[in-house]
Amino acid sequence: MCGIVGYVGPRPSQDILLAGLARLEYRGYDSAGVAVIDGEGALGMRKKAGKLAALRDSLSDAALADGTTGIGHTRWATHGGPTDENAHPHLADDDKLALIHNGIIENFSALRDELLADGVTFRSETDTEVAAALLGREYRSNGGDLQGAFRAVVNRLEGAFTLLAMHQDHPGLVVGARRNSPLVIGLGEGENFLGSDVAAFVEHTRKALAIGQDQIVAITPEAVTVTDFAGSPVEAEPFDVSWDAAAAEKGGWSSFMAKEVAEQPEAVANTLRGRIQGDQVVIPELDGLDDLFLGINRIIITACGTAAYSALVGKYAIEQWARVPVDVELAHEFRYRDPVIGDDTLVVSISQSGETMDTLMAVKYARERGARTLSICNTQGATIPRESDAVVYTHAGPEVAVASTKAFSAQITALLLLALHAGRVRGSMTDASVDVAELSALPEKIAQVLETENDHVSQLAGWMADTRSVLFLGRHVGYPIALEGALKLKEISYIHAEGFAAGELKHGPIALIEPGQPVFVLVPSPRHSALVHSKVVSNIQEIRARGARVIVVAEEGDAAVLPFADEVIRIPLAGPMFEPLLAVVPLQIFAMALATAKGLDVDQPRNLAKSVTVE
Ligand code: F6R
Repeated sequence: MCGIVGYVGPRPSQDILLAGLARLEYRGYDSAGVAVIDGEGALGMRKKAGKLAALRDSLSDAALADGTTGIGHTRWATHGGPTDENAHPHLADDDKLALIHNGIIENFSALRDELLADGVTFRSETDTEVAAALLGREYRSNGGDLQGAFRAVVNRLEGAFTLLAMHQDHPGLVVGARRNSPLVIGLGEGENFLGSDVAAFVEHTRKALAIGQDQIVAITPEAVTVTDFAGSPVEAEPFDVSWDAAAAEKGGWSSFMAKEVAEQPEAVANTLRGRIQGDQVVIPELDGLDDLFLGINRIIITACGTAAYSALVGKYAIEQWARVPVDVELAHEFRYRDPVIGDDTLVVSISQSGETMDTLMAVKYARERGARTLSICNTQGATIPRESDAVVYTHAGPEVAVASTKAFSAQITALLLLALHAGRVRGSMTDASVDVAELSALPEKIAQVLETENDHVSQLAGWMADTRSVLFLGRHVGYPIALEGALKLKEISYIHAEGFAAGELKHGPIALIEPGQPVFVLVPSPRHSALVHSKVVSNIQEIRARGARVIVVAEEGDAAVLPFADEVIRIPLAGPMFEPLLAVVPLQIFAMALATAKGLDVDQPRNLAKSVTVE
């Protein structure tokens, strides 16, 4: 939540900051602001409530256009509403110092009282202005040592924060720090960058440095210095960004979400690449780490939101192939009780961003209690993989739309790979060749669903634009997909939606069915289990008898559903663990088309931010 960008170099910084903020806007869009040390050496600042476009309009006078040191911020409001005053940057030291922040400073109230008693006045309701004022006071009292003052301030803060600051008396210097919030460094030629993630600077450089927890960075055009909070030098970890700026552009698509839905065959292919050897799955990153799977008697998968639904699919696959019990835990529930974990537990975290605060805290909690940790993540240089014993990257490419689509498919793919890898290591699979062939066939089958069902499902959504509630039912691995279908619809169409395990219907939810109620039913293949298939067909009959409008997602050739369905969406034949990757696609298209029919912004739904870096 909140996007942060910083620049020092020879070029005018304003356009670089605005372009970086445009790429980070998915992290929050309640307000935006920039501060620049202008050509005269004075610090200038503009900030505006609303999306980045409002800030751009306010910059049309070119007052800040020639400064070459700058910081920029896009906000998801926590302390104080989305107003101009609460927007970042916040100023101090007679408006010569500017500071931006991502996170929550938990002890801000005590610090604010201390500063008020010292005569400081505040212009906003934010925790951030407290850090700015503290930095201003420290800077004045230490004789103008910005880095020393910054170090003193971060040592007084509690909570989660990424901070960037600059002072007009130090043009060509931006200082930053992080604790439990993201910050990466972009290395240019005679210029350097800071960003919440590499998207902030990828159009200028693909060389990056990841910095660890509780570290401070200072960038000048020629140098990057990283220290810990005590001021001792530390080594930052270099990495090359594996995608280019074009991958984070809309590229002619109507929305990022439309582009990312269409990119799923490629995202899944990229997740599979290099991890299938003959008829076996071998994940090279896990080479030498067999003990992760051998010395355990239990796996916990922890995640939030869509990532947690991918975890539920993973549970079925790991239990089936690796024969080890798996529990799925929402990260924010997991760490606030007293779970039974220890060195016989493998905790697998799943996160597209690698920065979700709840998931990060769950991983730290698990490590502290002796569990081994493995992260499935889409973002290089992110915090969660750095805090884990091992990482399997999904390589889905940048996901910009707030609603997760291709990252979800890539997460399920990574979990299927992990399950087959663990099954081989544990010796619990006699022949994986059929499943490996199924994996390899996935990209083409997903492309087929996109090709054959896009228009049909979009048309269906258009007809249903006035619908007030939609239910989703599934069994086995169809159950998590029902949950995901409902979440997609809620978050971008603002329509009430619920996903249920089909077997749960008669235990309560069937009371919701009234004439005309639309219900999507995910029908498992009869080839996998005639029994489970027949149970779902019975569920369909039960809701149909009560007047539901039934939209069925079923494999090609399944005729048993025809007499009871108002609409049939077809997916290609696939093995039982692989159907979720096909069945989710029409549900994503449906949510997107319905939101579009209602005239909503599918990429930036209200109240949401893509990367939830506060609890
Ligand atoms: C929904 C969505 C969220 C995220 C969740 C976890 O479309 O995107 O539910 O899945 O906030 O985010 P990550 O995967 O970044 O940890």
